[in-house]
Amino acid sequence: MAEQTYYIDEDVGEDIASQAGTESSPYKSLGFAVLQHGDSQQFLTRKSTTGTIPEGSDSSARLEWKPVAKAAMKKAKNYAQQQQKKAVREQELVAQRTREEADRKRVLEEAKKILIEEDMSLPKAERIKLDETDPKKVKLGNGTDVLGTRVRVFGRVHRERRQKEVMFITLRDGYGLMQVIFTGPLAKTYDALTLTRETSMEICGELREVPPGAHAPNNRELHADYFKIHKGWKAAGGDDAITNRVSKDTEHATLLDLRHLTLRGETASKVMIVRDAVEYAFNQVYKELRMRKVSPPALVQTQVEGGATLFKFDYYNEKAFLTQSSQLYLETCLPSMGDVYCIEKSFRAEKSLTRRHLAEYTHVEAELDFITFDDLLDHLELVICRVVEITMSDPTIAKHVMELNPEFKVPDRPFKRMKYSEAIKWLVEHGIPNEDGEEHKFGDDIAEAAERRMTDIINRPVFLTHFPVEIKAFYMQKDKDEPLVTESVDCLIPGVGEIVGGSMRMYDYDELMAAFEREKIDPAAYYWYTDQRKYGSSPHGGYGLGLERFLAWLCKQHTVRDCCLYPRYFGRCAP
Ligand code: 4AD
Repeated sequence: MAEQTYYIDEDVGEDIASQAGTESSPYKSLGFAVLQHGDSQQFLTRKSTTGTIPEGSDSSARLEWKPVAKAAMKKAKNYAQQQQKKAVREQELVAQRTREEADRKRVLEEAKKILIEEDMSLPKAERIKLDETDPKKVKLGNGTDVLGTRVRVFGRVHRERRQKEVMFITLRDGYGLMQVIFTGPLAKTYDALTLTRETSMEICGELREVPPGAHAPNNRELHADYFKIHKGWKAAGGDDAITNRVSKDTEHATLLDLRHLTLRGETASKVMIVRDAVEYAFNQVYKELRMRKVSPPALVQTQVEGGATLFKFDYYNEKAFLTQSSQLYLETCLPSMGDVYCIEKSFRAEKSLTRRHLAEYTHVEAELDFITFDDLLDHLELVICRVVEITMSDPTIAKHVMELNPEFKVPDRPFKRMKYSEAIKWLVEHGIPNEDGEEHKFGDDIAEAAERRMTDIINRPVFLTHFPVEIKAFYMQKDKDEPLVTESVDCLIPGVGEIVGGSMRMYDYDELMAAFEREKIDPAAYYWYTDQRKYGSSPHGGYGLGLERFLAWLCKQHTVRDCCLYPRYFGRCAP
């Protein structure tokens, strides 16, 4: 074909196939022109608007077309070659993908023909949870292999992996994980080939010990002889697969938006399982101490811990609040039930976003009758340590705790006891300033950051006691020797800070009424509380422990938000 002339204008040309390469429809780059028409053509180039006018020429010189330089031609040829190679590679890839898709389609069509049925001549499969032991283990003659009875398990696919003709599935049911092996026709079925994570399955087979050197949960694996994915049990795959929605790299806010899926992950589910054990342990300890559980109301018309954090709502045209603490109600139970406790929700309209504040949290609260302040501290120490002891006595729970918090140690007793005034001195000595950046002085609230730094440096649980009257709640009993301070205690724990707040309660009627007046709280609505001081008062005290903070410590979680099922905090009330 005769040599043609193509035009390249680096300023106004365009590198698109619809461009003709003529003077009136030039390309933008030589590389593109060569790619379109090969290198055996004539190419003329210019920069119509930005080109430099040769010295001595008039201004129309910039519009002249010029043959391309050799070096530019060489570069353009290289570019065109690379582009051609790339196009060939892409075509090959597309072809390969099409072939693979066709192959997969064919394999899947074939797989649909493989129908498996449970072999009813086999022994009946006994249903077990994934952490349960095989009901009737039988040791084989050489003592190395253990043959089990047939078992039937239900669960969801936690992980899956294929190896030639064998498929390994890790099944999860909330009680444990179990490795399952599909071989032969089972591994070739349509359901096996298209298996997605989180799919629910029913599997029958025989449990065997894993071969030496291999690893699997509880050192065993289920050799499946039958499985079924019932209608509607399949989990979404492709872009919608769970692994594309939540992963280790997903932002924390997204993980909380998808909490229903995050909860299926190993960390979240371990924390929730430990939480169940801890809550149970509190109940056990309180039963050991012969304390009675009560269930005070959540909808109330009185405050306990100050108006600033009250959630107010309209209660049939009356003003009401979500409870901040069940303490006042617990106190009313002492005369009839003895020592009492509750594990209920408390609500705080906290406006700050910290890692240890929730708007709704689980509050473990107790109230003890006829005690001294020292009795209260001893009791608290015992409860905390005993709860840890009971929790860790369950091997599964202890394993979860140690996986979440490998350095966890049961705290030594007695806890360090430190008066507020000593803490102020300590903070000054260690150069830790107050919230205004100044040296701490008596009467300052010890803010979260300073409190945590102090606890982390001391590095063991601390009972911080005897806070000044002005910075504590109205109901706290004053120290009889030092009336400027209260018989109050915060238990501080490394990594978290305050996990418990407690005190002896003011039990003298007149003193309590004066406290209401001092705090400018109308006592009328509290008649049921103040009446306790009228009808047989007693020296008594109690405390509240934030369950999520306790868990953040035990399970080494950065925030209490990860220690409850569906956290509520400033800006989040969903899902
Ligand atoms: O120190 P607080 O406010 O004490 C009381 O409510 C007392 N009336 C309890 C009582 O004596 N029965 O709260 C007690 C504990 C804190 O130490 C902390 O662990 C937890 O409750 N807590 C919170 N946890 C999560 N989010 C919040 N916003 C919390 N506020 C308090």
